Amino acid sequence: MIHSKISGTGRYLPERVLTNFDLEKMVETTDEWIRTRTGVERRHVCADDETTSDMCVEAAKHAMEAAGKTPADVDMVIIGTTTPDLIFPNIATLVQHRLGIPACPAIGLEAACTGFIYALTTADKYIQTGDAKCVLVIGAECITKLLDWSDRNTCVLFGDGAGAVILEASEEPGIIGCHIGADGQYLDLLYYPVGASKELQKAGTDEAAIMMAGKEVFKVAVSTLGDVASRALEAAGIEQSELDWLIPHQANVRIIQATAKRLGLPMEKVILTVQDHGNTSAASVPLALDVAVRDGRVKPGQLVLMEAFGGGFTWGSVLMRF
Ligand code: UT7
Repeated sequence: MIHSKISGTGRYLPERVLTNFDLEKMVETTDEWIRTRTGVERRHVCADDETTSDMCVEAAKHAMEAAGKTPADVDMVIIGTTTPDLIFPNIATLVQHRLGIPACPAIGLEAACTGFIYALTTADKYIQTGDAKCVLVIGAECITKLLDWSDRNTCVLFGDGAGAVILEASEEPGIIGCHIGADGQYLDLLYYPVGASKELQKAGTDEAAIMMAGKEVFKVAVSTLGDVASRALEAAGIEQSELDWLIPHQANVRIIQATAKRLGLPMEKVILTVQDHGNTSAASVPLALDVAVRDGRVKPGQLVLMEAFGGGFTWGSVLMRF
């Protein structure tokens, strides 16, 4: 059987950093409220002329370098994002071209904050069937461009960035199990009200902004993330205590603490980047993975569980031996 394994990771964060103290000058909020209710202290924000594909290209270069791969080695590109540069062509084709990756399947995939987990799951399947050998998988988001900067309920939460991995065919796992899901009945709790075939005329106006019923999203996120994490472990016959690391979606430190508690995991085994990145949607898990790989916490051979939850709702987990 063919397995898949991550052989390199990379990340890119925009230069501009916006702290909670900067936000205090923009909306009626305090550093104390943001820190205690969300865990966020600062976030990176794209420049006006910076796009999601710009960030993907930089993150991908670092991942390819770490994996010892050149663009010619890559035979598929999959990018999870809600904020592609253009409606079409899809963002993976832009990134493929800019990196000089020879013609291959290039898939742009939208699953809100679960985008990277969906993309990694898809890449794993292509490798298992033998249809791909070396996939560039990216989660990236320029979500601050969708924010209403006068809405304190949402503008304090989010940040921009891109995280990339190279997923390669391997004789040993690698990825042990992927579990993804969605339930569209929750549309009204978290959405962006403008799209290509609906309300496009509202783009760039006050009516175009992220809509979120925070408290309701919070409750479903905690129970769903706990379930999807337990299911991943059960399916693999692995005990919680065997896990070396949990790398969760970084939306809110309180959601992460509640999920870790449900799993019986001490916070020392959880990778936290929400304080530095905020909620970067599809980029949050691969950014946290790269941070932990490069600072030496996540080591080869360790058992790692990644999980995410987002608009839709969508959710998913990937259990792997790094
Ligand atoms: O990534 C996709 C999934 N997204 C999530 O998982 C997000 C889930 N939700 C959350 O993380 C939290 O619900 C939030 C961080 C969004 C909000 O925290 P909360 O503890 O649920 O606060 P709340 O919305 O119930 O608001 C509590 C109070 C309200 O005031 P009143 O009505 O009690 O007087 C808000 O108006 O806090 C107020 N508030 C703020 N105050 C200062 C809301 N935003 C702010 C703010 N600064 N930025």
